[in-house]
Order: sequence, then C-alpha cells, then structure tokens
Amino acid sequence: MNIAGKEYNTIWVKENDNSIIQVIDQSFLPFEFRIKELSSVEDVYTTIKDMHIRGAPLIGVAAAFGIYLALVKYDQNTPLNEYLLSAAEKLKSSRPTAINIKHAVDSQLEVINMYNTADEKRNAAFKNALKISETEKENCRLIGEFGLPVIKNISHQKKGSPVNILTHCNAGWLACIDYGTATAPIYMAHDSGINVHVWVDETRPRNQGARLTAWELEQHGVPFTIITDNAGGHIMQHGLVDIVIVGSDRTTITGDVANKIGTYLKALAANDNNIPFYVALPSSSIDWNIEDGINEIPIELRDSDEIKYIQGLINGKIKNVMITGDNFPARNFGFDVTPAKFVNGLITERGICKANKSSIISLFPEKFKNSDK
Ligand code: MRU
Repeated sequence: MNIAGKEYNTIWVKENDNSIIQVIDQSFLPFEFRIKELSSVEDVYTTIKDMHIRGAPLIGVAAAFGIYLALVKYDQNTPLNEYLLSAAEKLKSSRPTAINIKHAVDSQLEVINMYNTADEKRNAAFKNALKISETEKENCRLIGEFGLPVIKNISHQKKGSPVNILTHCNAGWLACIDYGTATAPIYMAHDSGINVHVWVDETRPRNQGARLTAWELEQHGVPFTIITDNAGGHIMQHGLVDIVIVGSDRTTITGDVANKIGTYLKALAANDNNIPFYVALPSSSIDWNIEDGINEIPIELRDSDEIKYIQGLINGKIKNVMITGDNFPARNFGFDVTPAKFVNGLITERGICKANKSSIISLFPEKFKNSDK
C-alpha cells in the first residue's frame, strides 16, 4: 500500500533492530498516521486487545511476532516451555473470534518445538513469523486475482458502467499485511481500469468502515461513499448494489462465516434482493474443527463504552464524546455469524468455492486427510 508516496505493510521488523516490531497504529486513523513499536508479548497483547491493530490476518501475524518477542525477552527465571505456553495462552485470549491468532501461535509453537536452546528457538520463531507474514500477503494478492473475474463479469454485464460493491467493516489492507481480503479484488479491478464504486458501511460502534476502509480507498483512488449501517437494505432494494464482498474472522468447514457485527443483516438483505454475497478469506481464517458457526464460534463481547462513546476530531484534537445517557445499559456484540446458505461464494487463495464442506474440501484436501468427510 502506498501512503503519501511511501510503500507500507501493516507490520514489519524495525530497521537495524530485530528486537522491535513496528505496526501502523489504526486507532488514530484517519486523523493521524502513527507508528507503534512493540517489544514484548505484553505489548502485542494490549495492542491487539485494545484494537490499535485489528483485522483477522494482521492480528494473527502480530501474535506470531508476539511469541518471537517473548523469546527475545526470555530471562531464564521460568522453565522455557511453561513460559512459552503462558505467552501463547495470553495471545490467544486477546481476541477470541478470529481463528488466525490460534493458527499463527500454534504454528510458532510447532516450529519452536523442533529446537533445543532458547537462542535457536528465538531464531526459528523470527523466521517463521516472517514466513507467516509473507504467506498472508501473497494469499491476499491471490484472493485479488481470483476475485477479479467476478467483478469483471458484472462490469461486462453493465457495459462498463460502475460496479457498485458494498463492504462491511474493514477487510482491507489495514486488516491484513497488504492488499486486504474483500478489498483485494476491488483494488485489482480498479487498477485494471474497471469502473468500480464502493459503498462503505460505517460499521458501528468503532466505525472501521467510515474511518479505515474509506481512508484506504481514498489513498488508492477508488471511488467510494460512506453509508450508515442501516442503509444497506434500502440501497439494495433500489438497484444500487451489484455485489457484496466482506471478510471473515472465522469460517467453519461448512461455510458459516463469522465477521463484524452487522454482516449477517447485509447477507439477509442481499439474499432478499438476489444480490451476490461473497466472502473473501485466506485459509488462515478457516476453523478446520467446527461445523456449526452459530453455536460453536465464540463471539467477542467488548466494553459497552465503545457503544456509549464515539471518537472524533474536535478543534483538531482526537476526542471521545458520550452519545448515550451515562448509566444507560449497553451490550457490545463484536461479531455475528452468517449461515452458509446466504453466502454465494468463498474467495480464497486457491480459488472460489461454494460455502459448503465438499467445495471447501476440494480446494484444501490436505486439511481433511484424516477426517471422515
Ligand atoms: O473487530 P475487527 O475490526 O478486528 O473486525 C474485523 C473484521 O470483521 C474483518 O472483516 C475481518 O477481520 C476480516 S479482515 C480481512
């Protein structure tokens, strides 16, 4: 991603200092562009938990670096295995819905296990975190390539007039390492000269759409319009949406999709209006162990203050403003589950498949080798 003429990923190792990981701090965007430094597993944990970084692929990669930083800081006071398992549990507890954290942390533990000394383990964890990061980036690029023909077809059908794409939350470059998931086909379509326009759901309560997706699209020069979360159904009824593309925090092997709260309502409205609803996701977001999204995916409950206060710019300063009565009870569900029956296709790094078990198996057969299908 190019920001003001400079190429960025969302997470990287500090130049000339391997003991520091740097990330783009998303909590001040679009008002301020800040870089945050992480030097311990505690830093990584709070940075993920407090959503200075967010988005399933990115928090997975950050957690992988968290294990590496735990090894950088290892002081021999605790037995190494115990120390690493406690770091792993801490990172896994930072955000419960995105399965990417578990996959990345477990991959680190598996790799580390092959070495004996703390030094060897640290070097291996460093290399593996970089590998996971590069793989996520490449997978997002591939999602873009596989998703592009879907947008191209709609553009042909519309004889070149703008393809209107609705997206929810930020499943963009900021949520990943580069390209994004839902946004990758959009960027690729725009770059190849296809006329696209994005309807950006504001995504209450934290406004990832209005703050982050809109900022990303602006940086890339993609036309967009922010709408309230409740406007999607209305604009679908009036022919203003050609396709919905969203990301995923956890997808079951049967194709149920957990994503930012409100995604399910968009899927219902898309279904009622015969609008294709696609989910773009790398395989790191698939939970290979569960089949029933509604009952098995843990839904994160966040602090109700995220509903009661809203962040904005007042006289050039970022401030929080209370928008409800002080003592009003509020409940902040972070995600919802869209049942597979409302999903027209999953766009993955290996191609597009239907949201059902046999289609997912056909793309990722190695994940099912020992199961009875
Ligand atoms: O709570 P967030 O902002 O981390 O939620 C993120 C989403 O819902 C994204 O759509 C999802 O992580 C996919 S990111 C490519």
